[in-house]
Amino acid sequence: MSTTIRFHQYGSPDVLAPEEEQVGMPGPAQVRLRHEAIGVNFIDTAFRQGVFPMALPGVTGVEGAGIVEAVGSDVQGIQAGDRMAYFLAPGSYAEVRLIDASDLIRSPEDLSSAEIATVLTKGLTAWAALNGFYPLKAGETVLVQGASSNVGWLVSRWAKARGARVIGTAGSATKQAAIAGSVDHVLPSGSDDLAARIRAIAPNGVDVVYEFVGKATFAASAAAVRDGGTIVTIGAASGSPAIDQADLDSRNVRVVGGPMAQYVQGRVAQASDEVFDAYRKGIFGDFKATVYPLVEAAAAHEDIAARRKSGPMILVP
Ligand SMILES: NC(=O)c1ccc[n+]([C@@H]2O[C@H](COP(=O)([O-])OP(=O)(O)OC[C@H]3O[C@@H](n4cnc5c(N)ncnc54)[C@H](OP(=O)(O)O)[C@@H]3O)[C@@H](O)[C@H]2O)c1
Repeated sequence: MSTTIRFHQYGSPDVLAPEEEQVGMPGPAQVRLRHEAIGVNFIDTAFRQGVFPMALPGVTGVEGAGIVEAVGSDVQGIQAGDRMAYFLAPGSYAEVRLIDASDLIRSPEDLSSAEIATVLTKGLTAWAALNGFYPLKAGETVLVQGASSNVGWLVSRWAKARGARVIGTAGSATKQAAIAGSVDHVLPSGSDDLAARIRAIAPNGVDVVYEFVGKATFAASAAAVRDGGTIVTIGAASGSPAIDQADLDSRNVRVVGGPMAQYVQGRVAQASDEVFDAYRKGIFGDFKATVYPLVEAAAAHEDIAARRKSGPMILVP
């Protein structure tokens, strides 16, 4: 038997409940994977709430790492016992799952499944931010709105390692203190004079904004970006922002966004190698996950909703 965390209706974290089930044999081109670790990402809460609708009953979660138990027909190069991982494949909150073999990447031998499930999806999003959405150059000034988010943390540290100057925002004083070592300047994301405080640091405006917060910070982002600069809207944790397109057009400010997959597709091996390499080199700093038992997935979601935790989370069956 395998434990799967299901929700039968959209809603608050308490809709997530463990159920026992028998997972069958993989179909053609599929693999049965036993998870050793499951990554928790903000997007999981959007599936749970129905922001991204899925068939009900649903299983949220998009990331995991574990060991192949069985392989379906038409699967080449993967065998039972192989250590594999994946990102952006919905349905990961389960002890055992069926998954398309094409979604899997081979787990590096020197990294544990827990480490891989901690860093893969968030790292690939940061990789897309810095290489795809806006190829960042050394010497540029970067504003990370929500540098306290996991992806924001990775973007901030990777941008600094590339020689950019980074201004990062976070909500609470605790989270501002937590990001102090990852950025050059820390500001509170909720302050009324945020744009003025950014302009005091970068009088000509910032070259690029990486937005993870959205509605609550976008006006400050628009005011803080230089004419001819770029706003990258990767996330909108506080809701979708109102965008004054005419104003941005008049200042030649470009807004880009969308799923990171558009930049990672076709380059997964290169991108994931670069993410794992940055992780090994310590560029991401202290990026250790808080571990929750799989059956306590609802508690992890409550901690995200309350904005009380810093740092990544994983679920372990
Ligand atoms: N485009 C893509 O392909 C892609 C891929 C991955 C992630 N994302 C998006 O990127 C964002 C970050 O993801 P993550 O997994 O790193 O998230 P996370 O670690 O859970 O962090 C989310 C952060 O958003 C901030 N936040 C939440 N609600 C807020 C509110 N009402 N007002 C202001 N700030 C709020 C919180 O920061 P404070 O507590 O410091 O305020 C929190 O730390 C999410 O929006 C996610 O959906 C997009």
